Amino acid sequence: MPQPPGRKQKGPFVDQCESGKHAWCRCERSGRYPYCDGTHRGSDITPIKVVLDKPCTVIWCACGTSANKPYCDGSHTRL
Ligand code: FES
Repeated sequence: MPQPPGRKQKGPFVDQCESGKHAWCRCERSGRYPYCDGTHRGSDITPIKVVLDKPCTVIWCACGTSANKPYCDGSHTRL
């Protein structure tokens, strides 16, 4: 399993995800970015929650510019 980068980067984070709940960090301060680690608590920013019904490969946006968050839409290629 790849480790989450922990900060924004210029491309997606591809991960083999288990089924169940996942939370994509929207505050961009998570130490597990692009996954939420709870750092947003106390702010009005909340993560984007995703429920996967089966294990699958997910291409998470890790640049923060996707128009289809939490997923990569290729917008990072224009950075
Ligand atoms: S990483 Fe591809 S759009 Fe953000």
